[in-house]
Parts: sequence; C-alpha cells; structure tokens
Amino acid sequence: AITPVLLCGGSGTRLWPLSRKSYPKQFVPLVGDNTLFQQAARRLSGKGFAAPVVITASDFRFIVTEQLAAAGVDPGAVLIEPQPRNTAPAILAAALHLAAHDDAAMMLVAPSDHVVPDAAAFRAAVLAARPAAEAGQIVTFGILPTRPETGYGWLELGGEPAADRPAPLRRFVEKPDAPTAARMLSSGNFLWNAGIFLMSARTVIAAFEAHAPDLIDPVAGAVEKARADLGFLRLDPVAWSGARDVSVDYAIMEKAANLAVMPYADGWSDLGDWDAVWRETGQDDKGNATHGAVTLIDCAGSLLRSEAEGVELVGIGVENLIAVAMPDAVLVADRSRAQDVKQAVAALKARG
Ligand code: GDD
Ligand code: MG
Repeated sequence: AITPVLLCGGSGTRLWPLSRKSYPKQFVPLVGDNTLFQQAARRLSGKGFAAPVVITASDFRFIVTEQLAAAGVDPGAVLIEPQPRNTAPAILAAALHLAAHDDAAMMLVAPSDHVVPDAAAFRAAVLAARPAAEAGQIVTFGILPTRPETGYGWLELGGEPAADRPAPLRRFVEKPDAPTAARMLSSGNFLWNAGIFLMSARTVIAAFEAHAPDLIDPVAGAVEKARADLGFLRLDPVAWSGARDVSVDYAIMEKAANLAVMPYADGWSDLGDWDAVWRETGQDDKGNATHGAVTLIDCAGSLLRSEAEGVELVGIGVENLIAVAMPDAVLVADRSRAQDVKQAVAALKARG
C-alpha cells in the first residue's frame, strides 16, 4: 500500500485574517464543509492506501487528531517538528520513519492545503504512477498552466505525456521570476508542479544523500531519538535544530535526474491566496463569491466573507474587491493585490 505523508506545518499568511499562526488555513473550512486537511486525508484513503503519516508542529497536534477523527481517518503516525524547517527536513523525516518500519515503503507526499475536487480521479492517477515509482523514479504531478505563476514550480516535459503513465521530466524549475514564467507558459512544454510526490522512501532518502547530504545527520538523529508522547512522535529537538530550512523543491527536485511527471487534468488548486479562494468558490452571475452573513448590492467580481458570528457584511457598488471580516480583524483589498496580504501580516508582526 501507499502511505500518504500529509504536510501541515505551514502558516498560510496570505489568507490572513482567516488563517492565523495558531490556526492556519489547512485547518479551516475554506471551500466546502470539511477543512482542507480533512479533505486531503480522505482523498488519500481507501483501496491501495495505508494510514497516513502526518507531520506538523506541536501547536497543531490536537487539531490534527480531532480533525482526522471527525473525518473518519485513523492516523498511522503523527510526527511533531520541534521547529518548522520547511518541507525538505519534514519529508526526509517521514521517509526515514517509514523506511525504519518497511524497507520498501512507498510514500505519497501531499500538502494539506489544496483543493482537488475529483478524489477518485486523483487516486487513479496516483495508482497509475505507482509502477514508475517502484522502478526508482520520483513522480511529480503536472497541472496544465493557465497563467505565468511565479509562486509554483514548473516541470519541463522530456517526452510525450500520456494519461495513463508518467512522462520523463527534463527539468524542474522552482518559483521562476516573471519573465521566465511567461516564457515557460508560452513554450507549451511545461506543466505546474502540484507539490505532490510519489516515490519509495528508499528513493527519496538516496536523493537526499546525493543532493542534500548535510540534512541526513540532523534529521536521522531527530528520528532515531524521537520521543513517544500520548500517541505523538516528537522529533528530537537538539538533532533537529541542526537541519537547515529549505524546501524539498530546492533541496532535491531541482537537482535530481530520476524525475517523472504524471499529468493531472481533473482539477487542482493551491488555495494560496484570496484570489484563488474567489476562483474556487461558487460565484453568482456577476462573479461574486460570498460566505456567511453577506448582502450585496450592485457588486461584481468580489469575494466577501463574514467569518464572525453576528457580523453582517454589506458590499455596495464594489468590483474586484476582497473583504473578510473576523471578530477581531477586517481585511479589505483589491483582488489583484491578494499576494500582498503577506506584507500586511509582516507589518502587523513588526508592530507586535
Ligand atoms: N510539516 C511541515 N513543516 N509542513 C510544511 C512546512 C514545515 O516546515 N512548511 C510548509 N509545509 C507544508 C505546507 O503547510 C503546505 O501544505 C506544503 O508543505 C507546501 O508548502 P508551501 O509553503 O505551501 O509551498 P509552496 O506552495 O510555496 O510551493 C510548493 O507547492 C506548489 C504547489 O502548491 C512547491 O512544491 C511548488 O513547486 C508547487 O508548485
Ligand atoms: Mg502552497
């Protein structure tokens, strides 16, 4: 069986004020009734999948177990990072943990903050990619790009893509600058990296040994000296503190030669900012998306969300606006500036 490795240590600052340091976006019901984390856990369960390994921060451990229980998913293990070190150390820790129990473990690394509406189609794509992963490939999942996005990784196809098996990958480019992204979009030979990876634990450990060997000692030490605590596995803080902060995309994926890409065309979105939430939420005939106690008069292309019990939010004559009302904070922004919400969070943090 394939073990899902659910990453949920990120803080999601671009979705402030709904996503907070103490309660990040993956644990909030942003689209639909379940949270994104619950949707991810359910999507990767059933035939062919083992119980997931979740890797997260100490502050989120009870949110994780409560939300899994409510979603009817039993966790295989919950690993706790002493500090966030980005995705590379987290994925290596999960691989070493799995390999210690099963030398041939197959893992599907998945973020917990995406929307993938067709769970059955996604599971089918994962199972179709499995033979390539068993043959020692790192399989990425490729999305047809629709804009020159600089916040994603881009995958250059090295062969003809097919729907039923992965294609070779020529190059992995993480977060390009804007001119490079525009060139890749118009070349027609690139897909977006969905941030989801299928590979054996052994393959990914070998990739770290080859391309990020400095991470092996601190992360292996943290896993070997992990302490069991109420069903959680706390990675050793002293060893872990020696691991550098780096994403798996830079540490491994841009460097590895054994990459393949499974095209995925049945719907995927990284709910990275409010503009993406607006795009993914059902809209009225004027392109407005709302949530909670909202009244609209002559508005268009706007996202208005009241997230606070008893707070009425009214929009009159606005276009392409984002408004999010919480009990203790209100965001009002032009939709084209959605990426800049993280600047607001930095400014608030600096103010204390
Ligand atoms: N456990 C843990 N620890 N999880 C983390 C940490 C950490 O320190 N940092 C981030 N994560 C989790 C996030 O919560 C998220 O679910 C996932 O790992 C990916 O991290 P992001 O920070 O959201 O990455 P990104 O969106 O900038 O880029 C990645 O995803 C894109 C697609 O959404 C890359 O893989 C890109 O290449 C890709 O296009
Ligand atoms: Mg992301």
